[in-house]
Amino acid sequence: MRTTNGLVLGIETSCDDTAVALVDVHGKVVAAGVASQVAIHNRYGGVYPEAASRAHVDKILPTVRMVLDDAAIEPRELEAIGVTRGPGLIGSLMVGLNAATGLGQGWGVPVIGINHLRGHLRSADLEEKRVGFPAVVLLVSGGHTLLAYMRDQGDIRLIGNTRDDSVGEAYDKVARMLGLGYPGGPVIDRIAKDGRETVRFPRPMLDAELDFSFSGLKSAVMRYLAAEAGYKVEDVAASFVASCMEVLTLKCRRALLTHPAKSLVIVGGVAASPQLRETSRLLCEELGVSLCLPPLKWSTDNGAMIAMATWDYLASSMTTSLEPVPSLTIESY
Ligand code: KG4
Ligand code: ZN
Repeated sequence: MRTTNGLVLGIETSCDDTAVALVDVHGKVVAAGVASQVAIHNRYGGVYPEAASRAHVDKILPTVRMVLDDAAIEPRELEAIGVTRGPGLIGSLMVGLNAATGLGQGWGVPVIGINHLRGHLRSADLEEKRVGFPAVVLLVSGGHTLLAYMRDQGDIRLIGNTRDDSVGEAYDKVARMLGLGYPGGPVIDRIAKDGRETVRFPRPMLDAELDFSFSGLKSAVMRYLAAEAGYKVEDVAASFVASCMEVLTLKCRRALLTHPAKSLVIVGGVAASPQLRETSRLLCEELGVSLCLPPLKWSTDNGAMIAMATWDYLASSMTTSLEPVPSLTIESY
């Protein structure tokens, strides 16, 4: 790592939040801001891509300005700007990339295109260093559900992936079926606490090594809701969450038993789930592995994780293209 006192500006616009943050080389978040689009997408029950791009255009420069003002720093003092280049929605990515390119040119500051998934990975070390290697990583977000193995910081190997929907997507779709709005994760978790597992929904792909599948679970919930008249929403939520937790913990257990690891790192929006935090804590206690979770506010998409990852790119002099890549994988930069 470079020993600099400088700051990196992270810009994240891959999906539905315009997020910006300033982070130092130790992962300390000096300032952060986010313009949430929840109110825009809520009425559609999911992200409406065109509306997302337009909202990013409106909010990107004011959010950058606010964060710089908050920290009272001059743009020229920045070490670099890191901006998400993929994966994500092409229009949303383009807004962030174009804004970062323009600002970098104007300020004379280098701009680096960052893999959003590497940002999530590095979120586990924000505010304090937590991750010890080798590590098994579970990345659970709206766009991804995957397991990776990291021998060290620079060596990431994909060991399991979803064959269809991500777990976050399943949360969002089930929430929509239950009329609970978008995003589904937080509200499902909250009401599940007042329910009981009265329906045994399927636990998809338990036998399939480290791969996942969540579209069958989502369809099972849909069929149940169509067939049953007097269900209790809290019980359906609790039953759905129980199925997700069992699958996620079983796959983590299997990954940890087959890959020697000091840490289990759980990142991405679904890492905000209290149920997942609790079940993975019990698993790690049992297996004697250290559980590394990002602080709650840095679990869902944010600018700090992108700035944090930018320091790794700087340390290895990694340059990347500033073209959007909607389907970038975790092994790429
Ligand atoms: O990482 P993220 O903010 O965006 C993507 O990169 O996709 O993840 C968003 C996903 C959404 O599907 C949302 O429903 C889910 O994370 N999520 C949660 C919770 N908070 C957000 N899922 C379960 N429990 C939560 N508390
Ligand atoms: Zn994300």
